[in-house]
Amino acid sequence: PSPRHIRSRHQPVMPAAHHNRVKMFRHGCQLTICVHQRSLVRRSLGAGGSVAGVILILPMKIALGADHGGFQLKNQLRDLLIAQGHEVRDFGANSPDSTDYPDYAGPVAHAVADGAFDRGILVCGSGVGMAIAANKVKGIRAALGVSPEQVALVREHNNANILTLGGRFIQEAAAEELVKIFLDTPFAGGRHERRVEKIAELENEL
Ligand code: RB5
Repeated sequence: PSPRHIRSRHQPVMPAAHHNRVKMFRHGCQLTICVHQRSLVRRSLGAGGSVAGVILILPMKIALGADHGGFQLKNQLRDLLIAQGHEVRDFGANSPDSTDYPDYAGPVAHAVADGAFDRGILVCGSGVGMAIAANKVKGIRAALGVSPEQVALVREHNNANILTLGGRFIQEAAAEELVKIFLDTPFAGGRHERRVEKIAELENEL
């Protein structure tokens, strides 16, 4: 469903799909619960309860990959995304031993391009090798994440479907922030739609 976040202020609880996480705001305090059905939300609020606002966060299917330069960060992001309720597949690497980033960029890129996953995240030492390799796959728009503002733009303007990160250049907390923005920010469409379509035309020249 789109948009991923449905914001509703001063309204009753909205129907929630299976396994959706709902953040509720009531009397100025925030609580996060896992809901399986609407009745669970109602029960947690008590008889006659209502909420001032609700943010519905839908889980995504996310493909992850890394070489040795991004191994540690990839594992940290994997654990975080799973804890957040996303469906995650780790395409490796499965050890910190030296390995070749295209071996992970390829499978992740194909999995995203095929539609089996909503987004991909690839980590290598600089993030650049992963971006170059993933962008060889038709339908992939991989972008190196540099700053929060820039990652918002790669979603809004470029409709990036893979985020790459440089494990040797970014701290865990900063990477987590970039990933959150990457997952949360919708494509702006409009004039950007035409430009992204022109990227696809370039792919057809190959
Ligand atoms: C590996 O040493 C390194 O080249 C790789 O992780 C990546 O940075 C390539 O772009």
